[in-house]
Amino acid sequence: MNGLDRPYDVVLYGATGFVGTLTAEYLAAHAPTGLRWAIAGRDEVRLRRLRDRLRERWPAGGAGVGVLRADASERDGLRELAGRTRVVATTVGPYLRHGEGLVAACADAGTDYLDLTGEPEFVDLMYVRHDARARETGARLVHACGFDSVPHDLGAYFTIRQLPEGVPLRVDGYVTADAAFSGGTLASALDQFARGRRMLAAARDRARHEPRLHGRRVSAPAGAPRFAPEVGAWAVPLPTIDPRIVSRSARALDRYGPDFRYRHFAAVRRLPVALGGVAAAGAAMAAAQLPPVRRWLSGRLRPGEGPSAEKRARSWFTVRFVGEGGGRRVYTEVKGGDPGYDETAKMFAEAALCLALDDLPPTSGQVTTVQAMGDALTGRLRAAGITFRVAARR
Ligand SMILES: NC(=O)c1ccc[n+]([C@@H]2O[C@H](COP(=O)([O-])OP(=O)(O)OC[C@H]3O[C@@H](n4cnc5c(N)ncnc54)[C@H](OP(=O)(O)O)[C@@H]3O)[C@@H](O)[C@H]2O)c1
Repeated sequence: MNGLDRPYDVVLYGATGFVGTLTAEYLAAHAPTGLRWAIAGRDEVRLRRLRDRLRERWPAGGAGVGVLRADASERDGLRELAGRTRVVATTVGPYLRHGEGLVAACADAGTDYLDLTGEPEFVDLMYVRHDARARETGARLVHACGFDSVPHDLGAYFTIRQLPEGVPLRVDGYVTADAAFSGGTLASALDQFARGRRMLAAARDRARHEPRLHGRRVSAPAGAPRFAPEVGAWAVPLPTIDPRIVSRSARALDRYGPDFRYRHFAAVRRLPVALGGVAAAGAAMAAAQLPPVRRWLSGRLRPGEGPSAEKRARSWFTVRFVGEGGGRRVYTEVKGGDPGYDETAKMFAEAALCLALDDLPPTSGQVTTVQAMGDALTGRLRAAGITFRVAARR
């Protein structure tokens, strides 16, 4: 189904939230002429106000923007939304709380779906419950289309393609960033910290449902904290969703070779900062186990709030990759501005445009950004100012 008989190419759901508004602004500023798109959410008055602002500021891109109302708790409304567009991009999180209805509706309607989740449990549950249906209808379900996990997924893919084919490959990713976070991100992170056991159970259930790999190996061990001379910094294992997404791309594509290993680290110049980071993360996880403390922490930053434009303008990220295989070593880099919001909105909007407009390999079901959009999305992000480059080869 190509869905060209539907009224919209792209619907942005959750457009009035913090990242939602930035994404709507990006689309209004950059959408090609003729794109049929709409903003959607639960509050029609705020959506209309946003639409008027987009029209005023970007008369070309904002002119024909539609407005659709749907609450994440109303199944029929979500089904109607999914049936009216070819692609839905949703920022309505935490996704474990609000996300499943839209995934189900898109899988049923053959509608391509993208989100910004960094919640591994959500991704695993959606695989078990909706991947098969999405394969039947042809829907592509692409999770983690923001800073989690686009630079890491596309960056690891860019790295292995600098190395020989058909040999075991090792890639380490080292993340450095200076940035702040929003109320929505804080709420999602606190939810995650409190769900360790359920997250493991969902991962085990996924493993039972997923086809086994034959004749190839893919692993993503956590690694241990260490000084990494190859990047001149202390490397602290980062247990985010990113290594899981990179592994899923590697499982799906033979180009990652017969034996692929990915490890994911924060790179920190000074040892006390590295130790402080580990201690702070441990303390936050322990505190989040207690509901009153979790409520207090989440009250520090309300949903809809986030870093100011000035703070975002000063923020940046770099992910350095070291790849090895077949006697070769390559150093690559993915770099950009404010990771959590400005660049996330850019990656998210470009991914939605890519699914709607580009000539892509045929895929369906739950797929990663590399599987669904690989080179086309990398090209779009480069054109939009995100750097992908080879820094050195040995
Ligand atoms: N992958 C990444 O790198 C990355 C980066 C940034 C954020 N995120 C994730 O993206 C999500 C959004 O973050 P944010 O900072 O934009 O959060 P936010 O400002 O709180 O926005 C959440 C959005 O969800 C909407 N919403 C909440 N309950 C709803 C319901 N019942 N029905 C319909 N809509 C509902 C809100 O609508 P109202 O506007 O009407 O309140 C708002 O539009 C979070 O899960 C966050 O963790 C991921």
